[in-house]
Amino acid sequence: MIHDFLTWLGSTEWSVRLLESLWVWPLIESTHVLSIALFVGSAMMMDLRLMGVRFGTVRASDFTSRLLPWTRGGFVVMVITGILVFYSNPVRYYHNIFFRLKMILMVVAGLNIWLFHSRIHNRVADWDTAAPPPRAARVAGLVSFASWTLIVVFGRLIAYNWFDCDLQPQPGFVNWASGCMLPAE
Ligand code: HEM
Repeated sequence: MIHDFLTWLGSTEWSVRLLESLWVWPLIESTHVLSIALFVGSAMMMDLRLMGVRFGTVRASDFTSRLLPWTRGGFVVMVITGILVFYSNPVRYYHNIFFRLKMILMVVAGLNIWLFHSRIHNRVADWDTAAPPPRAARVAGLVSFASWTLIVVFGRLIAYNWFDCDLQPQPGFVNWASGCMLPAE
């Protein structure tokens, strides 16, 4: 059902025009890459503070309150440009194993952000200058740092078609993980 819906989505006029555009697609993709600097860059600075690796002399609350607006702004640009890139070729990306791994890690990173803000950062006054920060904050920083690193790596690997469904035979696990629609034998 998802495959059929995405096949229809990919046949819509704007999806085809976006994929075939000379300048628009590269501009959107470049903005997707550029916004990594703002989003992942500022998020990783915060993770280094949370892990107690750097910026220990700056109060945690000052660090987060100054950086979060930039991080949030960068995230919005990443998601909008990412959705547009996805819209340009939905079926190919939906069955791309690296795109799927990236989306799974986005869920992990999102859960980690929710847990951090709802359970740890709301009591930042208790550990604002603690060195090192409490274990929960350090773990949240480490999970965030690792998940965004992997999201960037998998994002980069999406462009490589090593495991694409139309390059058969692929290992059984790859066909399963990519949801390849193989003809009945
Ligand atoms: C918010 C966190 C995100 C990060 C850090 C991220 C990171 C990346 C990176 C590093 C690339 C490789 C760019 C290149 O080298 O060409 C990429 C590509 C891509 N991203 Fe994202 N991305 C994010 C969100 C999204 C979202 C929400 C979507 C769509 C739902 C998305 C869809 C894509 C697609 C389809 C590509 C492949 C473009 C291609 O090479 O064909 N991204 N992303």
